[in-house]
Amino acid sequence: MLKVGILGGGQLGRMLLQAAVPYEVETHVLENDPECPAAQLCTHFTLGDIRDFNDVYAFGRSLNSITIEIEQVNIDALEKLAAEGVVVIPEPRVLRLIKNKISQKAYYREHDIPTSDFVITQVRDELQHHLSFLPAVHKIGEGGYDGKGVQVIKDATDIHKGFDAPAVLEKLVAIKKELAVMIAINQKNETAVYPLVEMCFDPTLNLLDYQLCPAQVDASVATRATQIALQVVQGFRSPGLFAVEMFLNEEDQLLVNETAPRVHNSGHHSIEAMDSSQFDMLWRILLSLPLGSTRMRNPSVMINLVGSGDTGPAHYHGMTQVAATPGLSVHLYDKKISKPGRKMGHMTLLGSDMHQLQKQARELKNYVSVSGGTER
Ligand SMILES: Nc1ncnc2c1ncn2[C@@H]1O[C@H](COP(=O)(O)OP(=O)(O)O)[C@@H](O)[C@H]1O
Ligand SMILES: [Mg+2]
Repeated sequence: MLKVGILGGGQLGRMLLQAAVPYEVETHVLENDPECPAAQLCTHFTLGDIRDFNDVYAFGRSLNSITIEIEQVNIDALEKLAAEGVVVIPEPRVLRLIKNKISQKAYYREHDIPTSDFVITQVRDELQHHLSFLPAVHKIGEGGYDGKGVQVIKDATDIHKGFDAPAVLEKLVAIKKELAVMIAINQKNETAVYPLVEMCFDPTLNLLDYQLCPAQVDASVATRATQIALQVVQGFRSPGLFAVEMFLNEEDQLLVNETAPRVHNSGHHSIEAMDSSQFDMLWRILLSLPLGSTRMRNPSVMINLVGSGDTGPAHYHGMTQVAATPGLSVHLYDKKISKPGRKMGHMTLLGSDMHQLQKQARELKNYVSVSGGTER
């Protein structure tokens, strides 16, 4: 029986483990929180720090393959494991390239992949030299996620918001739509491409509000987006599951924003809406099985369930109505503590009419919620 490890035990690891059930595989998870979302669902749970060389190396030594559910892992340890014969997916070299937004942007530029123009800054004060480049977005090189690590710098008065660390300053894009393409590449270099999704963001939390599949764009835009995403991931020359995020600007140009080298929020709907989900697909890659089918079973809308109210033990509201809604699936991540803006779960609604789906999504958001604190 193959032993496969996952670095990170958050919701992505949890859903990956749920998809492992049909397969012949022994699952291992490394995470420093014994109550993390993935802890109960794996064959073996190891308590440790995914950013620590010794912890990652000791965890991986006895495994056949290893993958990640978050980029902030110890890549040196993964390189040593790969050199010793452990199959690391995606390859550590690609993780290193993607983990830092500076090298990631440089990759797009070198590979002629359309992306917003950028300059690199080392310290905050350097922003003073780029006033003519504004308005722009300052992005910290390493460690940002879910919009933390991204600051809009409209003019000189915003410079104090910038990062005093190596960062990318990129032109502010007049975004018409945010799109994402998920692509799987197996160890034989075969590819499977998922239908284009459209992400709609909550302007205050800067967190995904809901997401539509298929994206509501012209067929020609979808075709171009897929071609660009393939160009991005094929250049990595590594097996893996990748999510390529793009902007469609007001001039209908597509610009690559960033790539995730792992299962991704933009693929949650694939659990119900596709023949083979992103999680199922990654197992196929890890276990050297044929790639799954990315055929869309139904149009869908996916809604993140994020914490509201206070910080404290999680309470869920509206779940009886959720259970009574045909075509609606809910996934709770088993996070013990709800915090404002924290991803606590998601819902996927299948339907046939895109307008109807969006209307229902907005209604759902009115009566389904997660909050922390003491239940009254
Ligand atoms: N160049 C840009 N122009 C306009 N908006 C941007 C730009 N870059 C990022 N954003 C906005 O900020 C969000 C988060 O940025 P992103 O680089 O994807 O960081 P994260 O790693 O937090 O997902 C994007 O989804 C988009 O809404
Ligand atoms: Mg992003």
